[in-house]
Amino acid sequence: MLYIGIDLGTSAVKLLLMDGEGEIKKIVSRSYPLTFPHPGWSEQNPEDWLRETISGIKELTLDCDKHQIAGIGTGGQMHGLVALDKDDKVLRPAILWNDGRTFEETDWLNKVIGKESLSRYTANIAFAGFTAPKLLWMKKHEPELFARIDKIMLPKDYINYKLSGVRCTDYSDASGMLLLDVKNKCWSREMLDICGIKEEQMPRLFESYEAVGTLTPEMAKTLGLSENVKIAAGAGDNAAAAVGTATVGDGRCNISLGTSGTIFISSDAFGVDNHNALHSFSHADGNYHLMGCMLSAASCNKWWMEDILRTERYSEEQAKITREAMGRSQVFFLPYLMGERSPHNDSEARGTFIGLSMDTTREDMTLSVLEGVAFGIRDSLEVARSLGIDIKRSKICGGGAKSPLWKEIIANVLNLELDSVETEEGPGYGGAILASVACAEFGSVREAAEKLVKVSSTVKPDEEIAARYEERYRVFRQIYPVLKPLFGIIKNELDRG
Ligand code: XUL
Repeated sequence: MLYIGIDLGTSAVKLLLMDGEGEIKKIVSRSYPLTFPHPGWSEQNPEDWLRETISGIKELTLDCDKHQIAGIGTGGQMHGLVALDKDDKVLRPAILWNDGRTFEETDWLNKVIGKESLSRYTANIAFAGFTAPKLLWMKKHEPELFARIDKIMLPKDYINYKLSGVRCTDYSDASGMLLLDVKNKCWSREMLDICGIKEEQMPRLFESYEAVGTLTPEMAKTLGLSENVKIAAGAGDNAAAAVGTATVGDGRCNISLGTSGTIFISSDAFGVDNHNALHSFSHADGNYHLMGCMLSAASCNKWWMEDILRTERYSEEQAKITREAMGRSQVFFLPYLMGERSPHNDSEARGTFIGLSMDTTREDMTLSVLEGVAFGIRDSLEVARSLGIDIKRSKICGGGAKSPLWKEIIANVLNLELDSVETEEGPGYGGAILASVACAEFGSVREAAEKLVKVSSTVKPDEEIAARYEERYRVFRQIYPVLKPLFGIIKNELDRG
């Protein structure tokens, strides 16, 4: 049988066709616009996602035996607020995971409702990108639209709704709404009340590997596929990427270097860190995970290369950086171009270069961007280590992981062995695996992932380079606390201007 895996990302939707042996037959990618209507805001149009997903599926299945297609599974960008009216019309552009407009609502939730209560209700505290603060923002700033909300959903759930006609979500993605009682796997009554939402407006909850239904007759016709094609509930992109790299089972780790940067630690048991610096979410295998999320990871490098250096020759630029240079430069970069989630929870933070001198070169600055992202991931790893979680190695995936230099920097900054897997399409591959489980090709997500995912190469840290980075990390950690008060001043000046 064949399975379609969809990665509904921030820059593009990537689709792949996988057979029952886990072999990828074809990959298709389609991009769509991302808009930043104000500094720190980030929006996309759900109809763009749908249009490109439909045309992507058509292209993907153009020359295969369509009768072989058994299921579709999606890993989607998390936290985005999609609001529909009673006629299923999209009420406003989706407010995305990296949108920082809700700093007041986030502050109100954390201070007035209180972190302790939030953590009790949901296992998490409020972060600007989470869905609940966005609902509060809409209620305050767009009350007429808010009053017309009939259905609330997450990005991939909009796609699944249009494919299957079923209003559904899965526990991994729902965890990031701050509306789910993660431990007890149900909507939190308290949080729904706080946000002025009724349970009828929320989608039905499923495990990621469950089939929510099949293609609607109209969608089957549009796609030229059978009405029997099953739709898996799917997962948030990080949980899907974890499945796609076989990060299932207790204490396994995956680092994803996409637009965001995440460190994902799978766990058989539910757990929360005392300060809620890491997210405590459900996993797509039916268990749980802890996760740290940086809002800008590969996107920092993209910004530096394409917007500032005006080049798309990433490998050419990186080829000029020697191993000798690693951990020696005095230039530091804070990767907070969209504010920062983990561990600072500060939507006012901004990107910064520090330590420049007259002899600073283009290569030093390129290197500092790659290092700054690695240090940001290390910040979350340190929180995990402080909880007694002992991580010695990790998988790595995402667009940024295509760079051998960046992988080496990360292995040394984190002092971890990093495994790459044969299939680099983390969330899309995970989505296809979830579809294969929904279609009973495998008995469980763990069985499927362990059978299908294969490690292709490993990068090991080098003692000397890791020691140099250890010293630099100690400096990096001191920069943000010093600059933090300034970020607030800069933001307020900007707002006035
Ligand atoms: C995770 C997060 C991001 C998005 C990116 O909490 O916000 O990783 O899911 O697509």
